[in-house]
Amino acid sequence: MVLPATSILFVCLGNICRSPLAEGIFRQVAIEHGMADRIHTDSAGTGGWHVGSPPDSRSVEVAARYGIDISGQRCRKIRQEDFDSFDLILGMDRSNIDNLNAIAPRDTRNINLFLNYAQGVSVEVPDPYYGGPDGFDSVYHMIRDGSEALVSKLKSS
Ligand code: 4NP
Repeated sequence: MVLPATSILFVCLGNICRSPLAEGIFRQVAIEHGMADRIHTDSAGTGGWHVGSPPDSRSVEVAARYGIDISGQRCRKIRQEDFDSFDLILGMDRSNIDNLNAIAPRDTRNINLFLNYAQGVSVEVPDPYYGGPDGFDSVYHMIRDGSEALVSKLKSS
């Protein structure tokens, strides 16, 4: 039996700190759980300031520390067709959700706060852009825990 793949778009503001990490971490967790062929992941930002750039070096470094290479990713801005083509659009914080809802077609139902959808907790992944490296480590662990929970959820669905 061939099960259908689930496509997930991770979204933050700039698509250079949190959502590239989420894309890379979630893909790694899916591989570890033997779910890679059932899941398609991508990431995007609601803002377009960094389009075409690689992820922030602090995100690349924290991912590399845990054995994940996200250096090949390139920033992109969310597109209208993403709302149709992805099964799940997961924002990192509530302002991302507000921004997504403001640009989404009227009947879009697949927008959710990442950790709320994954773990049932109404918690935001905070923006680490203006802080120090500790913020990136903390964000890494939040996303890792959320990814483990989401893969388990998809596995049992
Ligand atoms: P991200 O962080 O949304 O996690 O990628 C940010 C990156 C850049 C900016 C804001 C947030 N910026 O204003 O350029």
